[in-house]
Amino acid sequence: MSAEKESSGGELSPDPNEQPDRRQFIKGASCAIGAAIGAVPMVAGVRVALDPLGKEGGDRDGKFFQLANLGDLKPGIPKKYSIFDDRKDKWTSYKNVPVGAVYLLKTSAKSTESDDANATAAEAETVIAFNTVCPHLGCFVDYRTDERDFFCPCHDSNFDLKGDMKKGVSPRGMDTLQVEIREESEIWVKFQHFKANTKDKVAIS
Ligand code: FES
Repeated sequence: MSAEKESSGGELSPDPNEQPDRRQFIKGASCAIGAAIGAVPMVAGVRVALDPLGKEGGDRDGKFFQLANLGDLKPGIPKKYSIFDDRKDKWTSYKNVPVGAVYLLKTSAKSTESDDANATAAEAETVIAFNTVCPHLGCFVDYRTDERDFFCPCHDSNFDLKGDMKKGVSPRGMDTLQVEIREESEIWVKFQHFKANTKDKVAIS
């Protein structure tokens, strides 16, 4: 027997012969489905509220920003720089808002140049850039002056100055970013975000 029968107006009306507990079940199921459908936009709204800049402003290929000059950095001491950019969500554009931060670390690296006659070793300055976001679950990583390491307070992961994990739960080391030295001293960094809590480094914006 069907749970409901067609009324004269084409609408569905309860069958008077139907058992009450079965009608009750169908009514409850309808309410649950309705609530689930209603919850979808609500959940989406919560996500937008928590992440108002959303994905609209993101670009998986990243974008270069000039952050400093070589003379601004002391060798072996990381310095933090904020990144500002224009972003937009589905409704609004935002001008020059903070979108992340980067640690820059200048090191001296030996490069060897050789030819048939002789070989020379030269000191060359290099710069490493790290996204300040922890690759585990996205907390911000601090630089600890005394320990000379990077430390994530959320789950006690720490990383050496190369970004390699010394101790903790992060599935990978800190995320390095591409650096270019332009005009001999300008430090440009390609800023990107990466997927959290994966062994591999996967760019998401
Ligand atoms: S978020 Fe950094 S260790 Fe968990």
